[in-house]
Amino acid sequence: MEPLRNIDVAAWESGLPADQVRQAVDGLEAGCVLFFPRLTFALRAEEERFLDPASSDGHAKNVSFDPVRQELKGTALAGAERARLQAMVARFSVQAHALVTHVLADYAPYLRFGRTSYRPVEVQGRPGSYRKDDSRLHVDAFPARPNRGERILRVFANVNPHGRSRLWRLGEPFEDCARRFLPRLSGPWPGSRRFMQYMGITRGYRALYDHYMLALHDAMKKDTAYQRLCPQTEVAFPSGSAWAAFTDQVSHAALSGQFLFEQTFHLPVHGLRTPDSAPLRVLERLMCRRLA
Ligand code: SIN
Ligand code: FE
Repeated sequence: MEPLRNIDVAAWESGLPADQVRQAVDGLEAGCVLFFPRLTFALRAEEERFLDPASSDGHAKNVSFDPVRQELKGTALAGAERARLQAMVARFSVQAHALVTHVLADYAPYLRFGRTSYRPVEVQGRPGSYRKDDSRLHVDAFPARPNRGERILRVFANVNPHGRSRLWRLGEPFEDCARRFLPRLSGPWPGSRRFMQYMGITRGYRALYDHYMLALHDAMKKDTAYQRLCPQTEVAFPSGSAWAAFTDQVSHAALSGQFLFEQTFHLPVHGLRTPDSAPLRVLERLMCRRLA
C-alpha cells in the first residue's frame, strides 16, 4: 500500500465528486496519509512576523487554540499582537474544517473539533523524555484526555518560509504494530483509572482503550531497536503543502521541520465507513474483549 495518497485540490473549500470522496475516505481508513501537494495555508503580510519561535511562550513550544471556546494558550504575546496571532490560528482552524467537510464529506455530520496548534519551533533536537519525543515512531494517544475509542483525525499544513519540508517517517500498519506490542503491555492497576479521574489527572474516565493506546504509544517510543528496524519510509511534506491522517492509527515520527499548523478532529467509530478499521475495533478483536 502506498503510504501517501495525493489529492490535487488547490483551495480549502474545493469540493470533490462523490467517488473521489469515497476513495479519500477509504484511503484514510486504510491507514494512508492524504497528501495535498498544492494546498497552501497562506499567511497575510501582517502575520509573517509570527514566523518566529518567540510567538510561543518558550515552555509549551506550541501555540494552542480551542476553536469551540475561542481560547488561545501557549503564547507570551499580549494585546493586539495576541489578537492577530489568534486570528491567524483561528483562520487555519476554519480552513481545515472546510477541507474535511468537503474532501471527507461523509464525516461531516460526525466531526467534533479538537484543538488547533501552531508549531513555530524546530522539531529536530528538541530535548525531553522519550514519551514526549515525537521523532520516534508512535501512534497518538492523549494521557490527560481519554477519548474512549473516538478517532483522532489531524490536518497539517507546512508554512515554512524558507522552503523547508517537514520530514516524517511512517511505520507499519496499525494491526501489525498492535500484534507486535500487545503481548508486552500490562493492564491498569485496579482503581488507578478512577483515582486519576478523581484527582483531575485525566479529564474524565480513562477507558481500557485509552490505557492500552497509551501503553502502545509508550512501548513503541521506548523500543529503540524497533525504532531502527521496523518497516518504515521517510516522507517529505514540502513547504506550501497540506496533509491529513488518522494519527491514532498511522505510525508516524516527525524528524525535522519548523512552522506547522495542525488541527485535530474527533470522530466516533460509527462515523467511519469501515468501523472495523478503527484501532478500538482492532484491539478488541486481538484481545477478545470490550475496551470502551
Ligand atoms: C506528531 O504528531 O507526532 C508530530 C507531528 C509534527 O509536529 O510534525
Ligand atoms: Fe504524533
